[in-house]
Amino acid sequence: MELDVHKPTILVTGGAGYIGSNAAFLLSQQGYQVVIIDNFKHGQQFYPDWARVIKCDFSDQSILDQIFTHYNVEAVMHFAGLIEVGASVRDPKIFYEENVVKVLKLLNKMQEHGIDKFVFSSSAAVYGTPTKVPIVEEHPCNPINPYGNTKYAVECMLSDFSRAYGLNFVALRYFNAAGADVENGLGERHKPETHVIPLLLEAAQSGETFSIFGNDYQTPDGTCIRDYLHVKDLASAHYKALKFLDGNKSAVFNLGTGIGASVSELVNMVTKQTGLSINVEVKKRRSGDPDRLVADPSRASTLLGWKPEYSSLETIIADAWLFYQKPDAVLYYSDQSYQQSSVF
Ligand SMILES: NC(=O)c1ccc[n+]([C@@H]2O[C@H](COP(=O)([O-])OP(=O)(O)OC[C@H]3O[C@@H](n4cnc5c(N)ncnc54)[C@H](O)[C@@H]3O)[C@@H](O)[C@H]2O)c1
Repeated sequence: MELDVHKPTILVTGGAGYIGSNAAFLLSQQGYQVVIIDNFKHGQQFYPDWARVIKCDFSDQSILDQIFTHYNVEAVMHFAGLIEVGASVRDPKIFYEENVVKVLKLLNKMQEHGIDKFVFSSSAAVYGTPTKVPIVEEHPCNPINPYGNTKYAVECMLSDFSRAYGLNFVALRYFNAAGADVENGLGERHKPETHVIPLLLEAAQSGETFSIFGNDYQTPDGTCIRDYLHVKDLASAHYKALKFLDGNKSAVFNLGTGIGASVSELVNMVTKQTGLSINVEVKKRRSGDPDRLVADPSRASTLLGWKPEYSSLETIIADAWLFYQKPDAVLYYSDQSYQQSSVF
């Protein structure tokens, strides 16, 4: 699609992915022009009719120059990156390259073009094993895997750039993103999938056994508790973060509901919503899994005026299930001609 070169525009990296596509869609609904850059390596081929999509690496210096020169880019929302914790342990080099080095290149290009607003997809992984739950933003950051280290490294970089160069940033520490925007065909299709809700849906449909790793945690039913947030609530937090940046401030926010759900509760809810039974086996604990990871989202509520609206476990799983049953095809194709190294 062709855009108006004068209209306020948000560059969304990783906008073909799960969370980025949901946030980008909401921005477009709120009147922003959206330019998405995504290499489609971990997402889908994605050409919606509400954004301009450019297939490229998010650190491509020539394409960034073209976008920042041509469009009236107000801010960059950065979702792109590698997300699988286990892979980060096996091959940390590529995680530092993709999640840290390339972000430095992106920030440098933004600075060259005088773009000073940045929203970053951080993670609860920056906290490591918490000493106090619910977790507040002041809780010490002690990541326990390379993925968490890369997220924390970027947060440090953002703080330093803010102090030295006046960058305004918001780092959003997501807890567990879940659910889908079924109506608009925006949901979770990771390959490989490591997230518990899609894995449970897969097990329900296929009849394959679902593994619970440990049922001897210090929780009411013995299984781990995590804080699941509907992706539509995550998207609205990004819109609020953008508004917050208009005041030229920087901040870090937890994004969660403040209420956790255990793995056993997920199994029961998936059974209820799908009407299918799930074969469950209990395996040994995995190392590095804390009993409870639950956010204290008060800061986001006070400073962003943000509140989750869709994040009951029932809605999350109902939406995830509806999306799961849709065919793999992306619903909103438009112009697919922008797959080149020169954008204009
Ligand atoms: N899903 C969660 O629960 C969760 C929790 C905490 C933090 N996060 C963070 O949120 C962000 C988005 O997560 P997601 O679940 O939507 O992941 P995703 O894999 O669905 O989306 C990431 C997108 O970035 C693209 N991408 C990756 N490397 C790229 C590169 N070098 N150049 C261009 N595009 C590239 C991928 O193709 C993909 O479309 C990630 O940074 C992730 O670390 C996610």
